[in-house]
Amino acid sequence: SRRDALPRDLEGVRIAVSAGGTREPLDPVRYLGNRSSGKQGYALARTAAQRGAHVTLVSAHTVGLPEPAGVDIVRVGTAGELREAMHAVSAKVDVVVMAAAVADFRPTARAEYKIKKTDREPDPVFLTRNADILAELVAARKPGQVIVGFAAETGDSGADVLSHAREKLRRKGCDLLVVNAVGEGKAFETEDNSGWLLSADGEERPIELGSKARMASDIWDSVAQLIQQ
Ligand code: CTP
Ligand code: CA
Repeated sequence: SRRDALPRDLEGVRIAVSAGGTREPLDPVRYLGNRSSGKQGYALARTAAQRGAHVTLVSAHTVGLPEPAGVDIVRVGTAGELREAMHAVSAKVDVVVMAAAVADFRPTARAEYKIKKTDREPDPVFLTRNADILAELVAARKPGQVIVGFAAETGDSGADVLSHAREKLRRKGCDLLVVNAVGEGKAFETEDNSGWLLSADGEERPIELGSKARMASDIWDSVAQLIQQ
């Protein structure tokens, strides 16, 4: 089986993985969210643990995924909570993977009570930027620490997706960027992913369409290579 074939090349490596979608509250019962299922991040955490790593999974909202065996879990809600948790855990790990879908914006105010429907038109919702956690983690990177980012990109053609992704890799400064081609029912809420793995050194590997577990293996192969360098 695949499990028997798993290498133990991450033995003792300390890894933090963020997963799922953050939720930004408008009032006690409503939020701005996104459609991340958390499946890719959970597959990464599970696979890394199977390959011998000590894994901390920082989990925002998911579609009710079971906790992977042998993994420490920290649960968060908002991007602000995810940011705090990632800064705390990343100081203690060799590898950081930001697979979470982080809300770029949050409502400027959170109403203390449920917003009521009245006869008047509703008030507009004002938004403010959230911090870029990945960029902050790169800025705080310890010597030798490997940092992996994700990007879900759309484009009219593969070239468009890739050029957006290359630019994002440069902008974020991470070591690896996992690029998912999205749109036309790809990636979101599906079992299968495909895309590219872009390295800061210029290497670009296509990731064949396959399960999220399969994609996780490809990502850990590249990370294991970077750690050995
Ligand atoms: N990310 C992050 N903090 C944010 C937004 C994104 O750490 N506030 C991380 C994501 O977890 C992912 C990577 O940055 O690993 C890329 O996220 P993405 O949304 O594709 O990039 P953005 O810089 O937000 O650009 P845009 O959404 O405009 O494409
Ligand atoms: Ca974004």
